[in-house]
Amino acid sequence: METEVIAIDPVTPRRGPLARAVEVLRRGGLVAFPTETVYGLGANALDIAAVAKIFAAKGRPATNPIIVHVASSEQVSEVAAQWPPLAQALAERFWPGPLTLVLPKNPSINDIVTGGGDTVAVRLPAHPVARGLIRAAGLPIAAPSANLSTRVSPTRAEHVLRGLAGCIDLLLDGGPTAGGLESTVLDLTTTPPMLLRPGLVSPQEIEEVIGPIQRLRIPDILLPSSPARSPGMLRRHYAPSVPLECLSASRPRVEALCRAGLRVGWLTLGPAARDEQSGLFAIELPADPAGYSSQLYAALHTLEALAPDWIVVELPPDGEAWLAVRDRLRRAATEPIRQFGIGRP
Ligand code: TXA
Ligand code: MG
Repeated sequence: METEVIAIDPVTPRRGPLARAVEVLRRGGLVAFPTETVYGLGANALDIAAVAKIFAAKGRPATNPIIVHVASSEQVSEVAAQWPPLAQALAERFWPGPLTLVLPKNPSINDIVTGGGDTVAVRLPAHPVARGLIRAAGLPIAAPSANLSTRVSPTRAEHVLRGLAGCIDLLLDGGPTAGGLESTVLDLTTTPPMLLRPGLVSPQEIEEVIGPIQRLRIPDILLPSSPARSPGMLRRHYAPSVPLECLSASRPRVEALCRAGLRVGWLTLGPAARDEQSGLFAIELPADPAGYSSQLYAALHTLEALAPDWIVVELPPDGEAWLAVRDRLRRAATEPIRQFGIGRP
């Protein structure tokens, strides 16, 4: 299949491209579209065969459930069996926006969407293209990130094509996405609610609205023995194809790797070294969490395309402001995280 690519205005999307996308969704096809977090790969959430195509295109394990996207809080009743007061309070504060709520599922939602479970994850995205598309389709839209399973999520149309060209019907190219990291996932079926995936909405912001929530500590999430509360929390979930290592003091490591003759990609926090060595590709990321989040995946895609032998990432500071970023970096790391020191190669 050839993937059709249509440019779309990210602020005031025109009717034409949206209508074309709706046509594809209604006949059971796959449409990649921008959201305020990352690009999503959408299908009609009520069409089992269409949702099956998402799993096939991504190589996604059938046990990993998919978020259902809606255009209004009212539409949630088509998807979820309950709308508890906590959900209402969170929706008033954070929707439309990058917060996904896990709720008991409505019988209309097939097991294929929920990975066989009895809960459904629901999100009301803020991006005008995403919202316009869902509203125009008049359907709940099942959409994971538009990348191959276990690879880095896409924040630009070209990232989507790198992984999925020829496997999906249509891509709406709305330019780079602003947020850059996936939504926060909060399970409202437990008491207290549980943070399943840190994201652009922080735990403190949630607690200001609904009081204390449970957090999985990142080391718990990464222990292979810990039960997978959210199957997407598999350790290697956001991985680039090159060995990747995170260190809190990365410069000596980078210098050693270069001396050993390796071609090294380096993500720095704030200004990089100007003393560029041959075989070193350094990318400076902003030293604030929002700026860093918005550029991290694009930087990883850029480095991946350069195909270095090794990627070194300067680990951002501890603390909840960096929770989502550190979570994604830990998942992307192929090497054990060491605070200091020089190991292999
Ligand atoms: O920002 C986002 O959330 C993007 C955009 C496209 O909306 N979507 C996204 O989807 O990141 P995906 O499939 O890459 O990640 C969804 C995460 C996974 O970790 C999945 O396991 C979890 O949400 N999830 C989905 N449904 C769930 C459920 N019923 N219970 C628990 N976790 C669920
Ligand atoms: Mg994903």
